[in-house]
Amino acid sequence: MHTPTLIAVDRPQPAAIRAELLRGLRALPAVVSPKYLYDSLGSRLFAAITELPEYYPTRTEAAIFARHLPAIAAELPADLTLVDLGAGNCEKAARLLLPLRVRTYVAVDISLDFLQEGLERLQQRHPAVDMLGVGTDFSTRLLLPDAVGEGPRLLFYPGSSIGNFTPPDALEFLRQLHLAAQGGGLLVGVDLLKPIEVLEAAYDDQLGVTAAFNRNLLRHINHLVGSDFALADWQHRAFFDSAQRRIEMHLQALHGVAVRWPGGGRVFAAGERIHTENSYKWRADDFSALLVAAGFSAIRSWTDERGWFAVFLAQA
Ligand code: AVI
Repeated sequence: MHTPTLIAVDRPQPAAIRAELLRGLRALPAVVSPKYLYDSLGSRLFAAITELPEYYPTRTEAAIFARHLPAIAAELPADLTLVDLGAGNCEKAARLLLPLRVRTYVAVDISLDFLQEGLERLQQRHPAVDMLGVGTDFSTRLLLPDAVGEGPRLLFYPGSSIGNFTPPDALEFLRQLHLAAQGGGLLVGVDLLKPIEVLEAAYDDQLGVTAAFNRNLLRHINHLVGSDFALADWQHRAFFDSAQRRIEMHLQALHGVAVRWPGGGRVFAAGERIHTENSYKWRADDFSALLVAAGFSAIRSWTDERGWFAVFLAQA
C-alpha cells in the first residue's frame, strides 16, 4: 500500500496574519477575510451547516454528482491526477476516485494537520491510488509542487467556494487554475440565483449554527491577535444584496463596544458591523462566460431539477 506524502508549500506566518487582521479591523467599515472562519471549531461548525435543512448547496451538489457522474467521467481521460482544492476531510473527492478512474489524488488545503487525518483514512480505502497532501493558502496564489507529477490533471473546486470571491477576484483565481491545470480540466461547483427567502434562510438557520459559525470568528481573532472581543456583544447578520447578487454575512455590535488588542484597539458604535463573508450567487450563463474569460473552453454543465446549483466541467 502507498502512504500519503505531505508537503508544506507555505506555512501561514503569525506576524503576517496579525497584520492582515488588524488592518481589516481598523478599516471603515471593518472587514475580516472569510478564511478566518475556519479554525478547528469553525471547520466543525461548517460541517454541521452542510447538514442543516436550510443549507441546500452541499446536498444539491452531491445529488448532481450522484446522478451525472457517469456523464462527467465519459468526458475525462483515465489515470487522472485529481487536485482537490480545499480538500478538508477529503470526503467529497472520496466519492469520485473510482468513477473518475483517478490514479493520483492531490489534496490541497491551508491546514496540513487537518488534511493528514482524512488523507490517511482515504489511503486505507484506496491502497492503489498515489496520495499527496499539499499545505498552502491557495486563495492568494496557487503553487503546486513538482511532486504532483505529469499525468492529466483535473482540478476539483466543489461546494461553491468560488462564490466567496468577488467576481474580479474569481476571474483572477480561475486564471491561476487555468495555468495550474496544464492543459487538463476543471470541475467546479457553483451556487445559482434563486428566491431570496431560500437564500436568506440558508445563511440564517433556525438552529443558529450559522450564527455560531460567524460569531466563532471572534474567538479565533482573539486567539490570533490577542484581542478581547466578547461574543455577547455581537450579533450574526446575513442578508441578500440583490444588486450585487450576494449573501453578505456580518457581525453587528449590539451596543457601543471598545475592543483592545496588544498595541491598540478600536471602538465600535451600536449597530456598527464587521463584514465577514460574501457568498455570490451566479447565473449559469454568466459563470460560463467567466470561465471563457479565464481561458477555459469546451464548457459543459449539469444542474438539479430546480436549477439551484450547477457543476461545470471545462477544458484548460
Ligand atoms: C464555503 N462556502 C462556500 C460557504 C458558502 O455558502 O458561502 C460558507 C458558508 N457561510 C455560511 N454558510 C456557509
